[in-house]
Amino acid sequence: MNATTTARAAAPLPFEDFRPAPDADLEARIEAVKRELGASLLILGHHYQQDEVIRFADIRGDSLKLSQLAGARPECRSIVFCGVHFMAETADVLSRDDVAVYLPDMAAGCSMADMADLDSVEAAWSDLAELIDVEDVTPVTYINSTAELKAFCGRHGGIVCTSSNARKVLDWAFARRRRALFFPDQHLGRNTARAMGVPLDEMIVWDPRRELGGNSPRAVEKSRIILWRGHCSVHQMFKPAHVAQFRERSPGIKVLVHPECSMEVVEAADLVGSTEYILKTIEAAPAGSEWAVGTELHLVNRMAKEHPDKAIHFLSPMVCMCATMYRIDLPHLAWCLENLARGTPVNRVLVPEDVKASARESLRRMLELG
Ligand code: 13P
Ligand code: SF4
Repeated sequence: MNATTTARAAAPLPFEDFRPAPDADLEARIEAVKRELGASLLILGHHYQQDEVIRFADIRGDSLKLSQLAGARPECRSIVFCGVHFMAETADVLSRDDVAVYLPDMAAGCSMADMADLDSVEAAWSDLAELIDVEDVTPVTYINSTAELKAFCGRHGGIVCTSSNARKVLDWAFARRRRALFFPDQHLGRNTARAMGVPLDEMIVWDPRRELGGNSPRAVEKSRIILWRGHCSVHQMFKPAHVAQFRERSPGIKVLVHPECSMEVVEAADLVGSTEYILKTIEAAPAGSEWAVGTELHLVNRMAKEHPDKAIHFLSPMVCMCATMYRIDLPHLAWCLENLARGTPVNRVLVPEDVKASARESLRRMLELG
């Protein structure tokens, strides 16, 4: 990791004090800290968190909603983020200077975010500059990326997107410049550009380990969108065959997937959208309707439990769960909160000031789109 990124060294959980404690004991300790710290503490929870953790979140949401709310409460002094590292970094960039952000387990990363680092993106940018005018390329980073990459976008007239606003962001980008470099998720980039009518032969995939990303100079010159070769290990498990199996078994079923799924899965589905969209769609669905949902397992299981009047199935026969989100558990949450209350905080996520200023710029461009 580059020296300017947020340190991700984990303070170790003291095993003897937390691991053997019964859940009820840990829950009572978490409640006690919440009562003690009151409105100065804000616990944010991403929809993929396990039930035992998300029930303590003051606000639940997708990446866009949580980043919009990170700086919103005037009384808040501490944000404990039950999510993954890039979300906590984003909260640190967007929150006021007198707010500190904590991640209960620093090992809660995102394997997709780790697929693009600053050095490789800068190398790709210089390679592209030898062939095309990079002043005519907008760098667009999915929010699932390090603060350093958001800062790179900030410095180069670029922007951040989330799964809920990728279309709006790419519209903005193409209205200004001819091309976009989209990282780290090739699938969100391809699905969005395809919905906008960009032909597949004007999309190239950039593999950072290969010369010119594995492309010919001609293909680079022809491209409108350059898709970084990254993906989500959870969403890549959903296949078009799973959609076909459900349709054969239940002809009236609706298939609802996250845009991190492959283009083939998205095209076979009925509806596509962010975790917040998925949740709202299921909430609004009529009783008796049947759904196959392609996103992280904890969210799908929770929706199935909360809507017993609807038949909600997990799209894949495999277990597709976000193992890094799952690292945030009751022992880590209790440990993080008790240290905060004691005045010995652990696992603060602190983005360096210079990175923060440029990252805020690309996030601001996104948030201004509404
Ligand atoms: P959402 O913004 O849709 O919640 O997605 C975040 C994420 O990491 C999905 O894998
Ligand atoms: Fe990252 Fe995929 Fe987990 Fe989302 S589900 S946080 S993209 S690894």
